[in-house]
Parts: sequence; C-alpha cells; structure tokens
Amino acid sequence: FLCEWLSLVCCHTETMYIEENTYKNDMISLIFLLKEKVGALAKVLRIFEEKSINLTHIESRPSRVNKDEYEFFINLDRRNTPLLTDIIKTLRNEMGVTVHELSRKKKKDAVPWFPRTIQELDRFANQILSYGAELDADHPGFKDPVYRARRKEFADMAYNYRHGQPIPKVTYTEEEKKTWGTVFRELKTLYPTHACYEHNHVFPLLEKYCGYQEDNIPQLEDVSKFLQTCTGFRLRPVAGLLSSRDFLAGLAFRVFHSTQYIRHGSKPMYTPEPDVCHELLGHVPLFADISFAQFSQEIGLASLGAPDEYIEKLATVYWFTVEFGLCKEGDTIKAYGAGLLSSFGELQYCLSDKPEIQSLNLEKTAVQKYPVTEFQPVYYVAESYLKRNSCFHKSFCLFSFRRFASSIPRPFSIRYDPYTQRIEVLDNAKQLKNLAESISSEMGTLCSALKKIE
Ligand SMILES: [Fe+2]
Repeated sequence: FLCEWLSLVCCHTETMYIEENTYKNDMISLIFLLKEKVGALAKVLRIFEEKSINLTHIESRPSRVNKDEYEFFINLDRRNTPLLTDIIKTLRNEMGVTVHELSRKKKKDAVPWFPRTIQELDRFANQILSYGAELDADHPGFKDPVYRARRKEFADMAYNYRHGQPIPKVTYTEEEKKTWGTVFRELKTLYPTHACYEHNHVFPLLEKYCGYQEDNIPQLEDVSKFLQTCTGFRLRPVAGLLSSRDFLAGLAFRVFHSTQYIRHGSKPMYTPEPDVCHELLGHVPLFADISFAQFSQEIGLASLGAPDEYIEKLATVYWFTVEFGLCKEGDTIKAYGAGLLSSFGELQYCLSDKPEIQSLNLEKTAVQKYPVTEFQPVYYVAESYLKRNSCFHKSFCLFSFRRFASSIPRPFSIRYDPYTQRIEVLDNAKQLKNLAESISSEMGTLCSALKKIE
C-alpha cells in the first residue's frame, strides 16, 4: 500500500485515476495535507465522524513539499461517496486543507496519471509498447541473428537504466561505425543547403565537443551533458516504443527518450524506426536551441493529464513540427524536423516540388492524417515571425502553440520547477504567492538590466 502511495506523492490534482488493481473495488482513497499543529488531524477526523463515516485505513508522513505539513492517506468505503462531496468542500473551503481524491475507475472528468518528478520517468522503462529486440518480418535485420542479439543488448541496457545514472557508453563495432559513417557523410553534404539556420549553427559545436565525426558514433552520455549546458535538455535511453502519452511527458521535464542502437548495415540509408543516427543527427542539434527546447517542453507540459484525444492531437503536432517540420528563412524553405534531417532521401524530397506544402495552422495540423513508413505527402511550414534568420522564426510555433494548448480541457494549471525538477500543480494560494514572488524578482532583474542597457 505504502509503496503505491509513495509513487502518488503530491497528487495535487483534484481527481486522478490510476491503474487497475492498485485499489480495492469498494474503496475510495483520499490524500490530504495538514499543517503540523496539535489537534489538526482530530479536527479533520471529526468531520468524517459527524457524517458517520468509518475510515478503514489511515497513514501519515511528513510532507516532502512543505516542511511544516503532514500528508495523510485515508481509505473509506465506496458507499460513502454521496457524502464525500460535502466533506471535501468543507475541508477545502472552511479549513483550507488541500485534498486529493484518488478514484479507481476512469471517470469522464478524471485526469490521467502523469509523472510529477523527473525520477518518476523511470516508470516508463517497463511500460514500453514493444521491446527493441522484437523486429518485424520486413525489418532489414530480421534474419540476422547477430544484429538481433545486439539489439537485445541495447534494449536491456535501456530497460535497466534509471534517472541519475550516467548513460552506459557503448563500444560500437566496425560495421556499426561504417553504417554511421555512410549516413553522416551523405547527410552532411545536404545540411548547408537544406537544414535550417539553427541546425547548421549547432552542428559544428557537436563536431567540436561531442565527437560527431564520420568514423565515430557519439556517446549519448557526452551529447546529453552538452545539451544540458545549452538548454537543460537531457537524453535518456529507451528500450523500445513508448506510448505517445509517456513519450510527450518526458519532454515536459526536458528529457528526450533516445535510442542507442544503429540501423542494419545492409541498408544504411533506410531505417523503419528511430535509431541513433536519427536521434543524433536529426533531433539533438535542435534541442540545443533555446527556443526550440522551450517549444518542445511546452508540447510535453500540455500533454500532462490531457484527455486521450488531445494526446493524439499533440502527437500529431509533434509529428508535423519536431519530426517533419519545415520553416521559412527569408524567401526560402528549410527543414528543421528530425525525420527530415536524418533521411538523405526525404530531406531532398521535402524541398522538391513533389510534396504538398501548407502553412502551419495548429488547429488544422493537429488532425491531419499521416503515413509512418513512407515519405510524407504533406508538410507544414512555419512562417517567419520576424523576417530574420537569427531570430528564431519558429517562435511563431510557440505563440500559436500556446493558444492551441490553452484549448486543452484540464481543470488545473501546471508549471515546471527546474530547481526541484518537479511539476507543480498550481491549485492553492501559497503556490501562487510563491510564483508571484519569483516572477516579481525576475521582473526586478529585467527592469534593472533594461535600465543599464538604455
Ligand atoms: Fe524522432
């Protein structure tokens, strides 16, 4: 019981649903926070007593969030549900107690579970939809037992990875390095003319600091450390395919789930799934850009606790921007999507006159259907917001994305605290006051800096 509670720590949302089998059918569970004060718990319990409600289980512990508070976890019989609304109202409104109701079944207005701390991303490691070692019959490595065994090694490594550990370094084989070399060499010839400004800006830095060379496959650990110094983004190895909900949740913490294996050597210019070439050449350069990192994180933040249909929309937005996005630079169109920047064929195709190019319009883009195993028939181009290359033209994405994200129905607001690496649900006066103080301090810094520039 306690273990489950620990993983649900600080569930500040009013109603959450959690996985089956966690709670007994006939129980309702509540978590509430109380200030450390003599008689405080007795006062709360009296409210239940007045309604003749019997608590079947109670646990307490010091709050991890607020030092002067205690967290209480209680169970009560489901038959008491009709009285509960009044009790919660009394606790919240008259006594100022923070209460979280954990219901067992998914309800219409319930919020899906989401990670609240960066450590909780560890939960996804054993929630993968398909294990990396399982290949489809049409995969180039399907009939190669050596490749399959190698894929299992990578999958096991990622499966056992936990937040905070260094990402295991890999000794890549000569054949693997040869595959990387072919991809690296060919793509590099296209970047100056086809890749966006940000990609071309960061690429030489990756060559200088992270071992991006034709004869060397960079180590995820080195790249992750580099990204952390640029934007706070970090990589985390992943053993297989994650659900969209889990994958997007990682972005909320500026964590990118990355593969570490490489495609099969028989077809260096083709891979049916993301591999280390796709991650390192396609995704990594853009994650080093401040505005792009912000945009990616905001997609992740918008996904936390969002209803299923909005997860699908967000995954589609991600697809047409982070994976297959085009942008305007002056009068020309360039690629910033990782799926394009890591594919020699599609990078040329997307800027030819063959595909259909449309302006990015998130409401429309979010419901666009797309194929996953062939070149995209439609690409969306982000218009230049400021007609200058160096001012991140994809800021356009940010402004319109925020408008789009605000349409997602969610009964609470959240923010990411980079100091504690936690998601804060802003649902009480104290948190709002803390936030106001922090913004006020930042405003002071901004005003003072502005005055000095004048
Ligand atoms: Fe990708």
